[in-house]
Amino acid sequence: MPRQIDLASGQFTAGVLHEHTTTVGMLTGLFADQAAWQALPAGTPLYTVAILPAPQQEGELLSGVTHLYPGRVGREFYMTRGHFHQRREQAEYYFGLRGRGLLLLQQAGQCVLEPLFPGSVHYIPPFTAHRLINPGSGTLSALAVWPATAGHDYQALQAQGFGVRIMADGDGWQAEVQHA
Ligand code: PA5
Ligand code: NI
Repeated sequence: MPRQIDLASGQFTAGVLHEHTTTVGMLTGLFADQAAWQALPAGTPLYTVAILPAPQQEGELLSGVTHLYPGRVGREFYMTRGHFHQRREQAEYYFGLRGRGLLLLQQAGQCVLEPLFPGSVHYIPPFTAHRLINPGSGTLSALAVWPATAGHDYQALQAQGFGVRIMADGDGWQAEVQHA
């Protein structure tokens, strides 16, 4: 039996899953407004990742869906932690399934924002940090496919983070450039 996904919702309807939810309390220092971050209940869910398991071996591929919920910490929209791959040379694909949001790519300090929407296809090249942001009013869901050996390096972004933050601006959003 093949595994199944409901492409409209991003929910896997069959297949063995590993699911993990990241909450507000897990993302110390990520959001610009520390007071607003502290005011939110630590257990507030920000995003859930459902992963189809594969052997952790060279040549294998992992796939998973990220569901990033709508919301803000102060003026800043909910986002994933963001990472480089431990194996920097390993690339990834994202496919937009549900909602409207942004994929932030950063390579050698240069930031690019790609709009993510149902049917959008995103190639994340090697050596490129990536993060999802949800400035919308509904859940943003994206399917990702990446080498099982890529690994996640969160540490490398801790000092400086990404070069832009996505902040509320009236009914919309604006990208605010960060100065080191
Ligand atoms: O492989 C990926 O890039 C995604 O599955 C992410 O891991 C997922 O979106 C969660 O983001 P992060 O790992 O930055 O917390
Ligand atoms: Ni990745």
